[in-house]
Amino acid sequence: MSIIGESFLSSEQLTEKDIAQIFSRAELFKKEFQSRKRIDHLVRGDGLQQKVVALVFSEPSTRTRMSFQVAASRLGFRTLSLDNPQVSSLSKGETLEDTFRNVAAMMPDLMVVRYNTNPDADAVIRELPCPVINGGTGAAEHPTQALLDAFTICEFRGQVKGERVLIVGDVKHSRVANSNLMLLQRMGAEIAYCSPAELGPQSDSWKGVRSFDQLNEAVEWATVVMGLRVQKERHRSEDTGVGQSLAEYRERYRVGGDQLKNFRNDGILLHPGPVIRGVEFSAFVLNDPRCKVLDQVTNGVFVRAALMSIMLGLEVQKQ
Ligand code: NCD
Repeated sequence: MSIIGESFLSSEQLTEKDIAQIFSRAELFKKEFQSRKRIDHLVRGDGLQQKVVALVFSEPSTRTRMSFQVAASRLGFRTLSLDNPQVSSLSKGETLEDTFRNVAAMMPDLMVVRYNTNPDADAVIRELPCPVINGGTGAAEHPTQALLDAFTICEFRGQVKGERVLIVGDVKHSRVANSNLMLLQRMGAEIAYCSPAELGPQSDSWKGVRSFDQLNEAVEWATVVMGLRVQKERHRSEDTGVGQSLAEYRERYRVGGDQLKNFRNDGILLHPGPVIRGVEFSAFVLNDPRCKVLDQVTNGVFVRAALMSIMLGLEVQKQ
């Protein structure tokens, strides 16, 4: 399925051709930006400055929202952002679905949405009159994060195919882990996870995925280690493992100097952010040259610029 003019809601939608097109454009944008500090001149089309991207985020965000805004600005588009429910009509009792319908009625060219699990909202965004990008839905999916993660793996490891990607931590509540599983497996990576039993994956898509009990052994296996934030805000009372003892969690699942001793020299460490220092990664790990967390953030801008320009049907000229 092509993503031109369509909504992009799940990693599952991407064909190999889509992925190749997004990555080659993101690479072009990144290189051009590094040498000329601009990318807008690469994009063909009249009225780029008239393109409007509306961001409607009802859950917190730093990287995703701002990188869509930076990406849109670099392309010459304008953005509108509704990111604080307290200052929108959500605080007066309007539903999220109606908020989406009303923002779409202003006829932006593209909408980017983030919200907690909500089947009514899922149904509404499929019917909106403009293309929508999923900027993170509950514990379900975060497909643009998976794209920028895969792009970063390609950048530093040369390819995704054959990579051994270890996902560490709260897989159960992680939309990042779900979208990465779909995308990275499709691209030929081998996935494994290392999580406390209470925070292990629950959905069928994870059946048969390798799991490790011991973090040291897991890190030794991996070429890519992907940490995840402990999603406390999504925990319910049955998720007692982490809630009861963060110290115990750190002891077993925090990637620190001891694990790095077992990690290959040419391996990389990723994390979607926000990193809670000392819980998922130690400060030592964040300073290790194999840790590519800030490269992921930079790549997020170019991958999202590539995605939005392709979805809007804009051609680029290679300089
Ligand atoms: C993640 C998110 O919000 O899903 N961060 C991100 O988008 N870069 C991960 C998290 O909140 O833990």
